[in-house]
Amino acid sequence: MALVLPTMCLNFLNLVVISAILTYLNWQLFLIVLASLPFYWPIIRSSQTKLQNYSKIERKSFGKLTSSIKEKLDGQLIIKVFGKTKYFSNSFSKDEENWSMQATKAGIFQITILNIAFFISYVIPVIILGLGGLLVIRGNMSLGTLIAFFSFVPWIYEPIGIINENLVQLQRVEPLAERFFEILDMPEEEGDGIYLFPEDYDVEYKNISFKYRDEIVLKNINLFFGKNEKVALVGTSGSGKSTMVSLLVRLYDPTNGKILLGNKNIIDYKLQEIREKIKLVRGNEPLFNMTVKENIMLDDEFTEEEFMKAVKKAKVDKFIGLLYEGYDTVVRERGSKLSDGQRQRVAIARALIREPKVLILDEATSGVDSQTEEEIFDELKEYKMTLIIISHRLSTIRKANKVILLKDGEIKGEGVHEELLKNSPIYREIIESQLIVGKFD
Ligand SMILES: Nc1ncnc2c1ncn2[C@@H]1O[C@H](COP(=O)(O)OP(=O)(O)O)[C@@H](O)[C@H]1O
Ligand SMILES: [Mg+2]
Repeated sequence: MALVLPTMCLNFLNLVVISAILTYLNWQLFLIVLASLPFYWPIIRSSQTKLQNYSKIERKSFGKLTSSIKEKLDGQLIIKVFGKTKYFSNSFSKDEENWSMQATKAGIFQITILNIAFFISYVIPVIILGLGGLLVIRGNMSLGTLIAFFSFVPWIYEPIGIINENLVQLQRVEPLAERFFEILDMPEEEGDGIYLFPEDYDVEYKNISFKYRDEIVLKNINLFFGKNEKVALVGTSGSGKSTMVSLLVRLYDPTNGKILLGNKNIIDYKLQEIREKIKLVRGNEPLFNMTVKENIMLDDEFTEEEFMKAVKKAKVDKFIGLLYEGYDTVVRERGSKLSDGQRQRVAIARALIREPKVLILDEATSGVDSQTEEEIFDELKEYKMTLIIISHRLSTIRKANKVILLKDGEIKGEGVHEELLKNSPIYREIIESQLIVGKFD
């Protein structure tokens, strides 16, 4: 308000002065200008408030659209691994449609107003020039007066500039949307195989090496994960743990060697089967801005029983009572309404409800307290599935059937915790320096 008042006074003063000058120069011509103002001013005035409203609505739905795009970019791993491209591109389309409708409305309104305003502000000077010219020819007015008059007239129509400033930029969403579809259309489906998931799903890494560009990350890995075994992967950060497990869901394929699943090369299986039966949960994965329940269901059909079982096993039920609307609480952008540990438990429930044959938890419980992590691990031990867990907690590692020690992309030891502790200096060092040892460990 403090700023608006002086501006308004100034504008008004401007108007009075210019009117006085124009009247002085030639009052007849000024009458013509005056006659146009009843059309011009109301349009400008009403359009400003309306335009602001339109812009506000448009900006809001544009904001929704960009956060919708961002959310899907952030969650692309989940969308890919859960095969949910269609579901999420539908929800994206809705946001896009909504925005483009609002933008079109705002756009049409602006263009109409602008056209009317331009028409008036261009036509009047032409009339003035015509009539004024006539007066000059007849000797009723000097050419100088006409030029002076003519150069003052546009000042009356100044507010037209304000509209221009408010113009909504309609094109800006396109690059974002393009990038979004590019990512969803990644040619990851190539190299799809034919086999269904096997009954005996032993996993074997045979001479696996892997490079990111020129950096060798995994060297000659040979490993065996027996069916339904519970294995812990231990190693300092950067040792290649995450890379190792992402090969198993085929986010990448090995540079050398092969991964056997039930004695067949993993690349010969249908990718969809692999993604359905082998679930990777990463601790830093964001949730989608939907309810807790929707984040778990992802639009698939599960019974209430299946849902309750999954949330119980993943210990979501331990904190859900704290949320005002329970499972129907919307978790906000990236799941920011929840703590890290809560978010991670929802992500685990999302994987569990789909009863995978192999579950990989890549620091998926890093934000969960020691005791709850232990409880989750105990629950998971009861499942008939292979569990590969990357964790920094001694309590979890100790309970694994087998610990695999990774350093600089190589396997430096394999066995149960006590064995490694006895035989491997590297293991002892990691245990001493890297692990979070809880109160009860
Ligand atoms: N997407 C990537 N592109 C390039 N290099 C990567 C990528 N992900 C990981 N790396 C590199 O690979 C090595 C192993 O990383 P990672 O598998 O994440 O180890 P860990 O999970 O044990 O911390 C690191 O040197 C890391 O910088
Ligand atoms: Mg990692």
